[in-house]
Amino acid sequence: MKPFTGMSLTKNLRVSHKKYYRRSFSVMVLASMTISSCITTSTSIYPPDDERPRESYKATGAKGMVTSAHPRATEAGLDMLKAGGNSIDAATATSFAISVLRPQSTGIGGGGFLLYYSPEKGPENVEVYDFRERAPLKASRDMFLDKKGNPMDYVINGVRIPNASINGHLSVGVPGLVAGLTEVHQKYGKLPLAQVMEPAIKLAEEGFPVYPALSKAIHYRMEIMQNFAGTRRIFLPDGKPLQPGEKLIQKDLARTLRLIAKNGRDGFYKGDVAEKLYKELKKGGIFSPQDLETYEVKMHPPVTGNYRGHKIVSMPPPSSGGTHIIQILNILSKDPIGQNPHNSPLNVHLLSEAMRRAYADRSKYLGDPAFVSVPIKGLTSVNYGQHLRSGIDEEKATPSRNLSAGNPAPWESASTTHISVVDQWGQAVSTTQTVNYTFGSCVVAEGTGVILNDEMDDFSIKPGVPNVFGLVGEEANAVAAKKTMLSSMSPTLVFDENRQLKLVVGSPGGSRIITATLQTIMNMIDFDMPLYDAVHANRIHHQWLPDEIRIEKDGLDPDTIAKLESMGHKIKVKGTPIGDIQAIARENHMWTGISDTRSDGQPMGY
Ligand code: DON
Repeated sequence: MKPFTGMSLTKNLRVSHKKYYRRSFSVMVLASMTISSCITTSTSIYPPDDERPRESYKATGAKGMVTSAHPRATEAGLDMLKAGGNSIDAATATSFAISVLRPQSTGIGGGGFLLYYSPEKGPENVEVYDFRERAPLKASRDMFLDKKGNPMDYVINGVRIPNASINGHLSVGVPGLVAGLTEVHQKYGKLPLAQVMEPAIKLAEEGFPVYPALSKAIHYRMEIMQNFAGTRRIFLPDGKPLQPGEKLIQKDLARTLRLIAKNGRDGFYKGDVAEKLYKELKKGGIFSPQDLETYEVKMHPPVTGNYRGHKIVSMPPPSSGGTHIIQILNILSKDPIGQNPHNSPLNVHLLSEAMRRAYADRSKYLGDPAFVSVPIKGLTSVNYGQHLRSGIDEEKATPSRNLSAGNPAPWESASTTHISVVDQWGQAVSTTQTVNYTFGSCVVAEGTGVILNDEMDDFSIKPGVPNVFGLVGEEANAVAAKKTMLSSMSPTLVFDENRQLKLVVGSPGGSRIITATLQTIMNMIDFDMPLYDAVHANRIHHQWLPDEIRIEKDGLDPDTIAKLESMGHKIKVKGTPIGDIQAIARENHMWTGISDTRSDGQPMGY
């Protein structure tokens, strides 16, 4: 572990944490810290905005808490809690607001998953809502392959755009976010939908200053965005990307949101907005009006597991997230992870070997359970986890080429955003939502202000061909009409030994969502870290292919890297962080909210 580098204390608060620091290699213990509740971990790598004080990533509240990736979206949710609303009101308000504030990450042209817990029903009855995008009715298995069977470009108005599954109209799945939020809100919300949506409408109507990450995202995707008139008008006025400090006003989006506030889901899936969406989408050649009319929200039982006495409740297929979080925890459940130093060579080795095996299984078995039979019970069984553990050599990496998906059958009995909310009744929402890649398909349906997702890329467009996050898949996740594309989104709840809610957690980050969420949970359970530390600590990631342990900048000390390399691991340092956790934990009889120090989020409590 890298020693303390001597940064200013206001930027980089560090105090000792008994159990965790005692075990670390060479961490300087700062006994004289004044803000004892705010603790950091191994190394100082984030945030990108080095001026932002560390304590601003943390909030405490006796009654309720909201965390999200933008302060004004968090504020929208908190205002609902203070107005007597519950966690569903707050999550709905925050979701619509973040759709306006982070169009590069999520939006009403996207979809997501939501877990809802109420103490009355208990941890056994957490409800799971699936409002993920679905493939259009005319979608087909090889729709993203050219005549030679290679991944296809998208050609529109004579312009050739690379990767039809990522960019342009063909990459768009039928959006589900509006159906999901309005359905859950209608069922459980206490406040009127119009009140809950008002902050989002105001933000769209009046605009807000463009922040650096948004401007950067526009620059990053402008080559593609400039091909679509509806997108150009909003994000590239005069042909140039909006700069930090300029105002982003989204009048069309405000109008669309008003129609939803007035008419509920029909404001989006029927009438004027639906017609405009269809008019735009038919340019890709496969959308039909029935795609919007027939969209349905689904409910599933959650996947559950136990880890050192804690109950883990997470997102089942069509996400792979919860299944593999539980699978990895099962693989490691008999190892004394917490007795070893955090991110020590042995822990990183065990963790990455477990991740490698889980992602190999992901590529083969995971897909929409309405279309393929996913061996969920086998994959999440403790015995299968231990069987996989028995194949891990503690001294040596297993090359991924020597490893394919396991066989869970014998054990078979049978750019995204995350929001966490807890309300005064102890109800909780954990929801992850997305348009997939940065700015989704880059297409705004003209006249609606709606950025359309590119979720079709989450299908396996051809066996073995990686998606934009490098994930490979096979038949289980092949494209088919009405099918839901596989996800990694992992909204999760953790309950302690006394069945009390301990943690509400989730993250964006493509394939890294699973491993970021996993490590936050393990840091709390194995290392007894306070939530701030559990989120801030450096993360690692292995996804089977490519065969490498991805680490964050300065994420492991050179000795640990050398040791891991000697065991046969390839270490890849990437500048981009692993995940952007938004989490809430019960600490000292209060709610602690933490936004990841790697990004721009904000917790607020009361
Ligand atoms: O559902 C999924 O797994 C992806 N569409 C998530 C994309 C994502 O997290 C992008 N953010 N970095």
